[in-house]
Amino acid sequence: MNKEEFIAEYGVKRKGTNSAKWDDLTTQFGRDDLLPLWVADTEFKIPQAAKKALNDRIEHGAFGYSRTPKSYYEAYFNWQKSRYGIELHEEWMRFGTGVVQSLSALIRTLTLPKEAVMVLQPVYYPFMQVIQDNDRKLVVSNLKNDNGRYEMDFEDIEAKMKEENVKLLIFCSPHNPVGRVWDEAELERILEICHDNQVRVIADEIHHDLIIGDKKFTSMLEIKDGLYRDNLVMVDSASKTFNMAALLNNHVVIANPQIRDIYDEVVAADASPSGSLLGMVAMEAAYRHGDEWLDNMIEVIKDNFNYVKENLQAKFPEIEVSDLEGTYLMWINLGKVLPKEKVEKIVKDHAKLAVDFGDWFGQAGLGFIRMNMATVPENVEKATAALITAIEAEK
Ligand SMILES: Cc1ncc(COP(=O)(O)O)c(C=O)c1O
Repeated sequence: MNKEEFIAEYGVKRKGTNSAKWDDLTTQFGRDDLLPLWVADTEFKIPQAAKKALNDRIEHGAFGYSRTPKSYYEAYFNWQKSRYGIELHEEWMRFGTGVVQSLSALIRTLTLPKEAVMVLQPVYYPFMQVIQDNDRKLVVSNLKNDNGRYEMDFEDIEAKMKEENVKLLIFCSPHNPVGRVWDEAELERILEICHDNQVRVIADEIHHDLIIGDKKFTSMLEIKDGLYRDNLVMVDSASKTFNMAALLNNHVVIANPQIRDIYDEVVAADASPSGSLLGMVAMEAAYRHGDEWLDNMIEVIKDNFNYVKENLQAKFPEIEVSDLEGTYLMWINLGKVLPKEKVEKIVKDHAKLAVDFGDWFGQAGLGFIRMNMATVPENVEKATAALITAIEAEK
């Protein structure tokens, strides 16, 4: 199957299906006549093998309480090992109904009320929300932006960890929204700083299958052959990769037995469900048979990204676009051509696009937009044309 065949077979219209992205625009944007490129899910159907596995399971007809089968571990472990060299063990594994739900339980596992938790902004905004909702103190270190390429400010991170007595870092790898796939040396450095300052780490690796450029993804679990494994918890899911967010299944990987024991007590107190039957059925099949599907989607994302970048910059060369090393989320600095405070109004009310606005990810994001490239090219082409027209009208 090539890219065009992939789009023809898997591309799908979602309006009218109770999609949060397509059918609930008014709540977030105050109007419903927008082309949505916001929420991080896709306009692609799941791989055929995953759909068949779901159909077969549904055909059975009974949906009582269920457990995680051996075959699930086997499929997930093999995916992680063969693609990224990640070694996993069954006793490390816990399951949740969403990464953000797991983040909340992990915050309560790894910190006490009022203790300080750090994030590196701009970053996926539910990180901030879940820290504050759990009555922890939010500490921010801003990434350094060098013409669209973002790096960690290690000096600032370490100084703030000491000053604020930070206990936990929630780290995004690859990083939503700036598209970085962190180098091994960067991961080593941040893990070393955390270790030396007794700061635990949550590595949110939900986007790790979405490697769009030539970089290699390394899990924090494997840095220095697992040297920092006991100081961190990794969370991920196939939900972004295969468009299965509403199937409510994710992994919480805890190598450290003491952390595991506390986590188990926390989720027992919440009576949290441990994954989801249909999520596991679909994800297992996708891990076994989804390689080609994923390779094709990545090609579509790459082309969509290049299309937007080339067309925007052909008209407005000063617009800064961050490289899309990983994730399917494009990060664009419109503040280079428009007054930062007016970006939201122009994009929403003139271009009629629903995107994630940069300041949602932290103050440093004002003037930026995040656009989701995991969609059919037709949507990307319409969005690009609308954006260009709206910017031209302002200039
Ligand atoms: C970094 C990151 N973590 C978590 C999530 C959401 O995961 P879930 O739907 O499993 O809560 C997203 C979704 O965009 C994300 O970008």
